Amino acid sequence: MGRQMKLGAFFHPTGHHIAAWLHPDAQIDAGTNFKHYAQLAQMAEGAKFDLMFLADALATRDGNLDALSRWPQYMAYFEPITLLSAIAAVTSRIGLVSTATTSYNEPYNIARKYASLDHISGGRAGWNIVTSANLTEAFNFGREAHYEHGERYDRALEFADIVRGLWDSWDDDAFLRDRTTARYFDPAKLHYLHHKGPHFSVRGPLNVARPPQGHPVLFQAGSSEAGRELAAQIAEAVFTPQLNLPAAQDFYRDLKTRMAKYGRPPDHLKIMPGLNPIVGRTAAEAEEKHRYLQSLIHPEVGLELLSNALGDYDLRGCDIDGPLPDGVFATGDIAGVTSRRNVLRWATEEKMTIRQLYERFAGARGQRTLKGSPTQIADDMESWFVNHGVDGFLIQPSHLPGGLEDFIAYVIPELQNRGLFRTEYEGTMLRDHLGLPRPASRYQRGDG
Ligand SMILES: Cc1cc2nc3c(=O)[nH]c(=O)nc-3n(C[C@H](O)[C@H](O)[C@H](O)COP(=O)(O)O)c2cc1C
Repeated sequence: MGRQMKLGAFFHPTGHHIAAWLHPDAQIDAGTNFKHYAQLAQMAEGAKFDLMFLADALATRDGNLDALSRWPQYMAYFEPITLLSAIAAVTSRIGLVSTATTSYNEPYNIARKYASLDHISGGRAGWNIVTSANLTEAFNFGREAHYEHGERYDRALEFADIVRGLWDSWDDDAFLRDRTTARYFDPAKLHYLHHKGPHFSVRGPLNVARPPQGHPVLFQAGSSEAGRELAAQIAEAVFTPQLNLPAAQDFYRDLKTRMAKYGRPPDHLKIMPGLNPIVGRTAAEAEEKHRYLQSLIHPEVGLELLSNALGDYDLRGCDIDGPLPDGVFATGDIAGVTSRRNVLRWATEEKMTIRQLYERFAGARGQRTLKGSPTQIADDMESWFVNHGVDGFLIQPSHLPGGLEDFIAYVIPELQNRGLFRTEYEGTMLRDHLGLPRPASRYQRGDG
């Protein structure tokens, strides 16, 4: 059997499309409906997905309340580790991955929670390390502003090193639980971390036994220079979005090459960019499904997103079927704001109206949308995979459960028929699915 692709299922409560909750096939109260998540997880497990993934933020979105009130994303939903712990009880194989920020957590708490999830799930936990994209999180943690980018990544590296050290607090065979000698654990197999660094001071040890996977799997989702360096050094899977194959191949080559300087073989990191599939039985049906979703975007929401993309230019009151007002162009270019440059280019080169602009921008939000028949979608995924652009994909269904059902019913069998995706799990742990080695304890390696 040849190399096979890895597939993750990324569940935003009602789905990835900005208007997902308005779709009649979306679960309307998804954010606080456990049964909904349990069904999604079981469905993805039935289709042999490597993992399910949950994003997170430690704040609601901020902005114009009228627009906010028409889009539920990040406004009210479950805390992900709590949710994954419950899902662990109703699934047996699928990997359980969630985000936790290194900017507004303490390493001890994070090490403990993911170690517990790994035990509860029998070795299926993964931690997506982020430094926080949502600037308002600072206001919930005693700060006036977010950490500056370099400092965020500095903290992230130190944070992750501590977490891995804490997971090694106990050797795998530390617990004797011997009633005859009345010895519960072997004191020689317990290790204090004694970490003192620029950002954190942690003595240890962790009060959870070494996780079944040794370490829960480490994921990463940033694409900046600092983000790539962190990924090359410690990540075992990466979710960064890629919009076309040449760019994906560059990113793939770049990351896998960077790993060498940290003494890591390239296959110890799986690159799985996001993909928003819109599947129809025919290309025309997929096109129609997408058009329908786009038509559900409320103008207030579209305008708000477009305003943000333009560097907070207020578009309220503009005719949405007319062009962008001249004033937008007068403010010139704002260095580094790619989204603004793109929108201005579409407006001038393609003469798009405000509605067309927000539909294009809001529909995908920086992610790749792939519309087509099952064959077309499988062809595209196969081409990215065999041409070394990816090791797999993070599937981001447009609306849930409908978008996941479509992908499972139509695309998974096509991938399986081509030998590109598994028909049965290889093992029971997330590391088995992803083909990742179980890390030895730093005390066994002798560098603790
Ligand atoms: C698939 C994916 C999932 C992400 N999930 C989260 C998340 O849950 N919470 C968060 O704060 N940021 C999340 N991010 C944002 C990134 O972690 C990161 O903040 C952003 O890409 C900027 O990082 P960079 O400056 O290194 O490029 C996610 C990004 C991607 C691509």
